Order: sequence, then structure tokens, then C-alpha cells
Amino acid sequence: MKRAVLDEPGLIRWGRVIGESAAREAVFVALHGPLGAGKTCLTQAACAGVGVHETVTSPTYTLVHWYDGDRGTVAHADLYRIAHASELPALGWEELESHPGPVFVEWAERAGEELPPDRWEIRLDFAADGALRTVTAHALGDAPPIPDPGPCAAPAREASC
Ligand SMILES: Nc1ncnc2c1ncn2[C@@H]1O[C@H](COP(=O)(O)OP(=O)(O)O)[C@@H](O)[C@H]1O
Ligand SMILES: [Mg+2]
Repeated sequence: MKRAVLDEPGLIRWGRVIGESAAREAVFVALHGPLGAGKTCLTQAACAGVGVHETVTSPTYTLVHWYDGDRGTVAHADLYRIAHASELPALGWEELESHPGPVFVEWAERAGEELPPDRWEIRLDFAADGALRTVTAHALGDAPPIPDPGPCAAPAREASC
């Protein structure tokens, strides 16, 4: 289990690395954490890492967005609005699960047993300081090792979600 406390530029920096690595290895990424914790922010950074140039918006209402990037096609899903895993087939879960590229799913726990066994698990939580987030991350099954969330030696880049 990897753990770090990150400010927003730090989360964005790690997100880009996550995106590059997830694109290279076609990783399914399950994102957990309360509203406002930074799941969409992390996915936006990851999409930049996949080489997506268009604006990445929260799929809270549309459930799944697909983006073509320089390093692959990335899927971004948000299960906040599903009440039960039985709703998954209707939103194209099979396509997400079998996608030969990076997949990022917010509120992934709502998929329950339907989550693929080989995946990265990332949890974001509010830290005592409102500008910081606690990040815990680990790889499951045959998923490759997850990049370390830092602290990173590189200087923080000014960025915002
Ligand atoms: N350390 C941080 N990491 C990520 N987001 C942060 C951080 N500090 C503040 N924020 C803010 O928190 C919000 C996270 O929102 P969002 O990514 O939409 O959350 P979620 O998708 O988990 O509901 C953004 O407004 C972002 O600017
Ligand atoms: Mg979100």
C-alpha cells in the first residue's frame, strides 16, 4: 500500500504519471473517496498523461466519457448515480471492463463484484488541511505496480482542476 499527502499540484503531477503508466499497461483504475476529494481532478491529470487534448469533464450525469489521446483511448466513468451493480450492463460496463486501454472509474465501489480483479485501487480523502488530500494506492491481481504518489522531488507546477 502506498500512501502520501498531496496538495493539488502534487495530485495533478502524480495523476499525469498515473495516466502515462495506465496507458502503457492498459490499466483499469478504481477511484474511491467522498465528493470533492479529487477523483475527477486526478482523472483530468491522468487524461493529460494519456495525451488527451480536449477538456475532460465530470461524467456524473452521462456516466461514461471516452477520449482519444496521443497514447491511447481513455474511458472515464462515474458510478455515483447508479443504485445497484445490476445497472452496469446498461452503461456499457462490458466495454469498459474489456477496454484495451486505460479506464478510470469514480465511485468504483458501486460496481461491487463486477470490478475486474486486475486493477489499481486509489483512495482520496480530505486531510486536516483543506488543501491537502490523503492518497492511498495499491495494485491488485496482475496489475503492474502503481507509480509512487510521492513526495516528489520535482518542483510543483502551477496547475488547477
Ligand atoms: N490536494 C488537492 N487535490 C485535489 N483537489 C484539490 C486539492 N485541494 C483542493 N482541491 C479541490 O478539490 C476539488 C476536487 O473536486 P473533484 O476532483 O471534482 O472531486 P471528486 O471528483 O472526488 O468529487 C477541486 O475543486 C480541487 O480544486
Ligand atoms: Mg468527480
